[in-house]
Amino acid sequence: MSPTSSSSLPSQPPTPNAWGAFNGTRRSGRTAQLLSLDDFEAAARCVLPRPLFGYVAGAAEDNQALDDNRQAFAELALVPRVLRNVAERDQGVTLFGTRYASPFGVAPMGIAALSAYRGDIVLARAAAAAGIPAVQSGSSLIRLEEVVAAAPGTWFQAYLPGTPERIDALLQRVAAAGVQTLVVTVDIPVAGNRENNIRAGFSTPLRPSLRLAWDGLLRPRWLAGTLLRTLARHGMPHFENSFAERGAPILSSRVQRDFAARDHFDWSHIARIRRQWPGRLVVKGILSVHDAALARQHGVDGIIVSNHGGRQLDGAVAPLRVLPAIADQAGDRMVVMLDGGIRRGTDVIKALALGARAVWVGRPFNYAAAVDGEAGVAAAIDLLRAEVDRNLAMLGATRCADLGPEHLMDRRGPWALCPPAARPSH
Ligand code: GLV
Repeated sequence: MSPTSSSSLPSQPPTPNAWGAFNGTRRSGRTAQLLSLDDFEAAARCVLPRPLFGYVAGAAEDNQALDDNRQAFAELALVPRVLRNVAERDQGVTLFGTRYASPFGVAPMGIAALSAYRGDIVLARAAAAAGIPAVQSGSSLIRLEEVVAAAPGTWFQAYLPGTPERIDALLQRVAAAGVQTLVVTVDIPVAGNRENNIRAGFSTPLRPSLRLAWDGLLRPRWLAGTLLRTLARHGMPHFENSFAERGAPILSSRVQRDFAARDHFDWSHIARIRRQWPGRLVVKGILSVHDAALARQHGVDGIIVSNHGGRQLDGAVAPLRVLPAIADQAGDRMVVMLDGGIRRGTDVIKALALGARAVWVGRPFNYAAAVDGEAGVAAAIDLLRAEVDRNLAMLGATRCADLGPEHLMDRRGPWALCPPAARPSH
């Protein structure tokens, strides 16, 4: 098209959306120089004591699962469509009847209140303010009632206690707190082999030692702003939500944490929970298409395809690799979501194009909370949201529902993911 004919087109002012995506949102303060989610990791390394950073960043054994979570995204190339008028973009998605502003949420992360002062509340409030979902971890140090009061609508994730009576008591407590969506994590029949935790000096509870004290002293901002502030205002943090009753303190030379045998759980426990839990039930930690089918048969409302961020079975398949088959199996009858390895808007887009309704992001939001509390998490959400918006536009899409296999190719082989039948006819 020549410049002359283009200038004769009716001029359309750019939407704020378009300019926002083009310029990015300007920020000031601690996160002004952090331009991608990975930048938050580097910044958090300077804020968090070594054992704590090691706990968040680490995975199991040789990090094969952790690394492949990223590699799987890298193996996919994007295929943009052009000239499709993408001026009106909306990246919102509906999950269980609630409309969220972006197709990603804050994944559950244990002991977040040690990464940032009041960490669980910080994460939940930042998510609520941005209109995205957040899941509070059951391995958390702030009572779930407080988190739900501060950010109504927050989801809660449970590791099931070992006996039916204790499961029932926990479910009653969670329901009484007003939680509507319960996430049950099922990939932890036994604890993963986190030898990196031992190397980093991390354990739960943390054992007081000169080395631990030294690690804390090397991070004075964290020591004063997170640990001492927490101790002064709220006392010694305990695991508050593993059971109906309070669990172990986070720092103790003797107390053993009650990991309540979980290796006997089977689908009958999910059936029991389904009978008792009145709200939405999500099962997290599915990687097999057969387990996805079982979840559906047990009346589960949604699943999170996940290898626990590589923190459980090392070598477990990357969620992205099994997502298409699982999404196909679930059809419209169950909401399929994914976590593990999402660091860019393009990763969000690849997962949605392969059938996820939404994705969950963990470590980067934990780092963001460590770096700048609620403002840090808000900044990280903003970055990822701008990336998704920009990428939708460049792919020629205006909604998440527009994304499909036709936008993807295996980077190494032209048609592996885009068989002729899946190709659009226009
Ligand atoms: C808790 O879920 C953890 O992975 O540490």
